[in-house]
Amino acid sequence: MYAVAPPPANTLRGRNLLQVTDLTAVELSSVLRLATYLKALPLAEQRSLARGRTLAMLFEKPSLRTRVSFEVAMSQLGGETLFASGSEFMVGSRETPEDVSRVLSRYVDAIVVRTHAHEPLERFARASTVPVINGLSAAAHPCQALADLLTMQERFGSIEGLRIAYLGDAKNNVAASLADAAVQLGATVQFGCPPTHRPSEAYLEHLQALGAPAGGTARAFSSAVRAVRGADVLYTDVWTSMGEERYRERNDAMLRPYAVTDELLGYAQPHAIFMHCLPAHRGEEVTEGVIEGEHSVVFDQAENRLHAQKALLVALLTDCKGMPV
Ligand code: CP
Ligand code: NVA
Repeated sequence: MYAVAPPPANTLRGRNLLQVTDLTAVELSSVLRLATYLKALPLAEQRSLARGRTLAMLFEKPSLRTRVSFEVAMSQLGGETLFASGSEFMVGSRETPEDVSRVLSRYVDAIVVRTHAHEPLERFARASTVPVINGLSAAAHPCQALADLLTMQERFGSIEGLRIAYLGDAKNNVAASLADAAVQLGATVQFGCPPTHRPSEAYLEHLQALGAPAGGTARAFSSAVRAVRGADVLYTDVWTSMGEERYRERNDAMLRPYAVTDELLGYAQPHAIFMHCLPAHRGEEVTEGVIEGEHSVVFDQAENRLHAQKALLVALLTDCKGMPV
């Protein structure tokens, strides 16, 4: 019997994170709270949190931030990583995703996968007996969204009530995960994009339903100015994602009116921040002036990949005893 309320259970232990909606709003808030806690915790007190644990990282696409931040996170938590790059883990040319997953589950404690199509990743995760984390697929980039929310929370104190303008390819992985996360915590997401890059009506309805309990919502505008007016956050990503290079010329032509410039920033709130998951293409989706300017928080955002992923690893791998989950 507890004389006071029992400590909250860590519901995340042993789970997968393939997309943001694998987490409830409460769990999402828990991960952010844990990230804030770990960011302030001296490294000497972190070293035992994942001691003896191994994280496998299978990457079928290039990466700087995701790869290095997971490697540093595991190292600072006292665990280890092993990295394998290649192009055939998920496509099943040598063996099925299920067999790769079942074998790795016998060797390691968690697996991060960066891949192309989302469906083989789901098959991989279903067969795994250890947590599987999506380190970016064509459909989702949930680890990026955790760092994005952490950055906004640090800047504004809360996500609830924020107006986030996302400009450019509003159908891509980063946009989807950002919107899934932000509406769940009560933000309004305003996509500024041409019809070719507009999320489907079904996806917008999904976001509206997902956001409803917290007062979050999403809408799309073909006018960049209308999307940005009054925004607290301006967010963009590359116009052409990895694996989509065949559409580069079309994307460059269609998305140019949605480039984030000083002029566009002028329609947002005076306190607005500029965010980008990076890598950035200066002179394309964002001007040099904006990304290097006083509104830009892109390097704080990149740093927060480390803190958010540490929280995720601790939540998936441990019982979080004594921590604010
Ligand atoms: N933002 C991000 O995921 O960067 P990398 O592709 O370098 O990992
Ligand atoms: N949308 C980009 C994100 C890179 C971190 C891509 O998938 O290439």
